[in-house]
Amino acid sequence: MNDLREKFLKFFEKKGHKVLPSSSLLSSDASVLLTTAGMEQFKSYFVLEKDPIKEIGTQRVATCQKCFRTSDIEEVGDKSHLTFFEMLGNFSFGKEINDDPKNFSKKGYFKKSAICWAFEFLNQILDLNSLEVYVTVFGGEDKIPLDKESFKIWEKEIGIKKEKIILKGKEDNFWGPTGIEGPCGPTTEIYIKGIEIWNLVFNQYYQNQEKKLIPLKSPGVDTGMGLERLTMIYENKNDIFETSLFLPLIKIAEKNIPSIDLRKKRIFADHLRGISFLIADGLVPSNKEAGYILRRLIRKLVTFAFLKKLSDKIFKEGLVQVILQYKNFYPELSKNKEKILEVFFEEKKKFERTLRTSLKKIEKFKEIGAKEAFFLFETYGIPKEVLEEIVPQKIKFSSQEFEKELEKHRKISRKGSIIKFGGHGISDKFSKEEIEKITKLHTATHLLQAALRQILGNHIKQMGSDITPEKLKFDFTHPKKLNQEEIKKIEDLVNQKIEEGLKVIKKEMSYEEAVRQGALAFFKEKYPEKVSVYFIGDFSKEICAGPHIKNTSELKKFKILKEEAVSSGIRRIKATLEF
Ligand code: SER
Repeated sequence: MNDLREKFLKFFEKKGHKVLPSSSLLSSDASVLLTTAGMEQFKSYFVLEKDPIKEIGTQRVATCQKCFRTSDIEEVGDKSHLTFFEMLGNFSFGKEINDDPKNFSKKGYFKKSAICWAFEFLNQILDLNSLEVYVTVFGGEDKIPLDKESFKIWEKEIGIKKEKIILKGKEDNFWGPTGIEGPCGPTTEIYIKGIEIWNLVFNQYYQNQEKKLIPLKSPGVDTGMGLERLTMIYENKNDIFETSLFLPLIKIAEKNIPSIDLRKKRIFADHLRGISFLIADGLVPSNKEAGYILRRLIRKLVTFAFLKKLSDKIFKEGLVQVILQYKNFYPELSKNKEKILEVFFEEKKKFERTLRTSLKKIEKFKEIGAKEAFFLFETYGIPKEVLEEIVPQKIKFSSQEFEKELEKHRKISRKGSIIKFGGHGISDKFSKEEIEKITKLHTATHLLQAALRQILGNHIKQMGSDITPEKLKFDFTHPKKLNQEEIKKIEDLVNQKIEEGLKVIKKEMSYEEAVRQGALAFFKEKYPEKVSVYFIGDFSKEICAGPHIKNTSELKKFKILKEEAVSSGIRRIKATLEF
C-alpha cells in the first residue's frame, strides 16, 4: 500500500494547513443525501456563517474525506466508476488573504497559491515531464467572465504551454452549489494521461435558491482530488481496480469464485467498501433515502451470491479486508467491526428470504412489463434491480417505463382517501378522537421543524417522522447531541408560536413555485406537478399532503419528551401536546 494520503496531508500541513478528520458520510447538510465532497463540512466557513479562526484557529485546512456518489451507481463495473471514494482536498476560507505561495501563514489564499501548490505536489510524487499533462480553465459563460487570473498563473507562473490550457464552459468548469443553494465558482482542472486528477474550485459566488449569483465577500478555495485516481497514475495502472487499493478485494473475489467475470469483481470490490463505510457511520438498510442506497448495495451482492450459491465466506473475508485496510486512518471501521458484519449478514438473511419467494413468483411470468415489475415490487418487495439480475431475458420494460408506473402510483396514493403521516395510513386504524390528536401533532411537527431550523440552523433536514395519537417522533440531521438549553429554546419557540395563534393556511402551487417561496420539501421525494404548501403564519412553510388544524392556538402546550441519537449525524426528538 502506498502512502499518498499521508504525503498529501503532510505537504499541506507544511504550507500552514490544519489537517482535519473526514466528516461522516451521513451528511448533516440538508441539501445532500450523503457526503459527496470534501468542502461540505466547511460550507459555513465559506459563507462566513462561522469564523474559521475562532473555531479552528486557521483559514487553511486539508482533509482526506470519505465521499459517496450515488449518481454513478449503475456505472460501477467498468474500470473507473466508483460509489465510495476518498477525496484529498485543501481549502481556504479567506477573510484575510495572503496569496503568496511562499508564505505559510494562517491566512486564506486564493488562485495563485492553490495552483502553484497543486502543481508542486504532483511534481514531487510524479514525473510530470514524462506524463501527458494539460489543464482546463473556465472560459466564461452566461455573463460570468473568463477566469483570466487562473489562465495567467498556469501560463506565466507554472509554464504550461498555451495550447495545453483549454477553455471550458459552465458544464465542465464551474462548480456547485451542492444542493439547492451554496457557494460556487469557476474551476481549473488538472488532467494527466487524459484523466481528470484534481479539481480546483475558486468559490467567488453564492448561488441562492432563486439561482442568483451573489459575489462572496471573501473568496475561498476548495480543491478535490480522488485518491483512487491519483493512485492509478502513481502506480502506473490503467484500471482503478488494479491499484493496491483494490487488489486485495479483487483477489478475494477471484479466490472464492474462480469463474467470476470482470464486472462482477469490480462491483464486489466497490460495493464492499461502500457498505463497510456506510455502516460504520451508523447507517442501516431501509426503504428510504440513504438507507435505501445501502440496501441496494447489499442486495446487489446478495443476489449475485444467491444465484451462484456462494457461502458467507467471501463476504466475511471481504468486509474484514476493508476494515483491516482502512482502520488506521478511519478508526470507526475497527470500532464498528461487529456491527458491520452483523448489519450486513442480517440484511443478507432477510433478503435471501425475499429472493426465495421471488423466484417462485417470477416463474409464473413469461414476460415482465413495467406493470408487472411494479406489482412484484409493491406486493413482494422485489426490486427492479433484482429482476434485471435474475431474469434479464424476461424483462420487457425500460427504466423510464418503470419510473412512470411508480409515479402513477404515487399520485394515486396522494389523491386517495388514505391520509399519510410519514408513510403510515391512518384511515381505519384510529377513532375520530385519535385522528384529531394526530392532526394536532402533525401541525406541531411542522412548528418543531421550523423551530429546529431557527435555533440550530438551516442544515436541519427531516429524515423521518412518525405520529401516533400519543406523541410525535421527528428525525433530523444534526451533527451533535442537543444540550438542555437548546431543547428549552426549541420548546419555548414552539409554545410562543402556539400562543401567537397563527393561522394555518394551505395553498396549491407548482413544485417549483413552492421551492422558490422557500417551502421545505422532503428530500428525494418525487412530487406531482401541483403540490399543497402549508403556511403557518410566516414561521413555517412546508410541502405537505395534510391534514392540519386551522390555528396554532388549538394546540395549547407543546412538550419535548426526549432527544436521542438515531445514528451518527441523525437525532430524534419525541414530543407531545397537552390534550
Ligand atoms: N468540490 C469539488 C469537487 O468535488 C472540489 O473539491 O470536485
